[in-house]
Amino acid sequence: MNILILGSGGRESTLAWKIVQSDHLKQLFIAPGNAGTKNIGINLQLSVNDFEAIKKVVLENNINMVIVGPEDPLVNGIHDFFLSDNELKNIPIIGPQKLAAQLEGSKEFAKEFMVRHQIPTAKYQSFTEETLQKGFGFLESLDAPYVLKADGLAAGKGVLILNNLQEAKKELEEMLTQQKFGKASSKVVIEEFLDGIEMSSFVLTDSENYLILPNAKDYKRIGEGDKGLNTGGMGAISPVPFADIEFLAKVEERIIKPTIKGLKTDKIPYVGFIFIGLIKVNNDPFVIEYNVRLGDPETEVVIPRIKSDLVDLFIATAEKKLNEFNLEIDDRSATTVMMVSGGYPESYEKGKEISGLDNVNNSIVFHAGTSLKKDSVITSGGRVLAVTSFGKNYKEALAQSYQNIKKIHFDKMNYRKDIGFDL
Ligand code: AMP
Ligand code: GLY
Repeated sequence: MNILILGSGGRESTLAWKIVQSDHLKQLFIAPGNAGTKNIGINLQLSVNDFEAIKKVVLENNINMVIVGPEDPLVNGIHDFFLSDNELKNIPIIGPQKLAAQLEGSKEFAKEFMVRHQIPTAKYQSFTEETLQKGFGFLESLDAPYVLKADGLAAGKGVLILNNLQEAKKELEEMLTQQKFGKASSKVVIEEFLDGIEMSSFVLTDSENYLILPNAKDYKRIGEGDKGLNTGGMGAISPVPFADIEFLAKVEERIIKPTIKGLKTDKIPYVGFIFIGLIKVNNDPFVIEYNVRLGDPETEVVIPRIKSDLVDLFIATAEKKLNEFNLEIDDRSATTVMMVSGGYPESYEKGKEISGLDNVNNSIVFHAGTSLKKDSVITSGGRVLAVTSFGKNYKEALAQSYQNIKKIHFDKMNYRKDIGFDL
């Protein structure tokens, strides 16, 4: 088979690394990819949101399956675009259609879905510019801290957590009347604050059946001790040590099963990954958010723990035969640590030469923000490399990642030295 992966980050590098291990694969294409994917497949320079350009490369290269990494093309309807095109409609896409992608594309849509199907989540109400005064009233009815969420996609930046009522009102007003997050905040969901520890579950569904993939916990803040600005994610661990069998059974019964059943009841077809952001309050799981794709850097620990052939798994997904699939999971722990550009997640410089990649042993280095300049690998993004390792527990795996990070260098590099500190 010829397979196309859309995207260019650590997540897509990991999918590429796993897919090239499959006997089904003839040629792998990654669009746009990075310096790492270039070593194992063919990078195609195109935008993941340029559907006509994607159609052209799919037909030119006889691509038989498309794996969508990021949420944007899903929310923009790439799957629907394929289904409505006579030349593309029989090519399987791993990633849901536009309607289902609203689970990530609209916080209000996701909240309404959860309420309709009795899936535990924080109490909420949503507001627009016209109902701003009611929004103030709702904030007054809650206790601090206040959680404000832009309804639409805001590149992971649309959630504000504020300790002070006046500040929360001011932010709400700015989001609604001054488009603080552009069109994404023309509607705002205000939520009750849930106090607990977070983790994520990953599910693959074919619309009829589902498989639960390894769970993970990511570290979103730039600073040690979970301080400072939010990033895309600075590291991840799988499995999550505090997610014991009893807790995971609650997640499946109260959240995963009702989600899959709810999609069927609502006649929302869904072929692809569901990434459920959870918070454990006392011993009970609540949904913080749905994402309609894999997480990054969670993928860098989830996918390496899957022992089964990933292309076999995707074929079973496309054929709606996940019920017949025997998913094999590596029971070791996997951890990843992100090496980022100095300054990230604020402004940072690019184009720094990366050295030492060949000295790494017993870890896998997934490229995230890299490109090639002549024969040198250089930085080209905020998150540059993800260093993944295995161990009999997460501490052993982390020690391995940190040992290998010491062998890699680029000017102004930064990484968190405390991944797993809270476990
Ligand atoms: P989201 O984009 O919805 O995942 O939110 C970003 C982050 O905000 C989450 O990872 C949580 O740390 C935090 N968060 C979101 N909603 C809540 C909530 N209701 N209670 C507490 N923390 C929240
Ligand atoms: N690591 C969080 C995300 O991918 O959304």
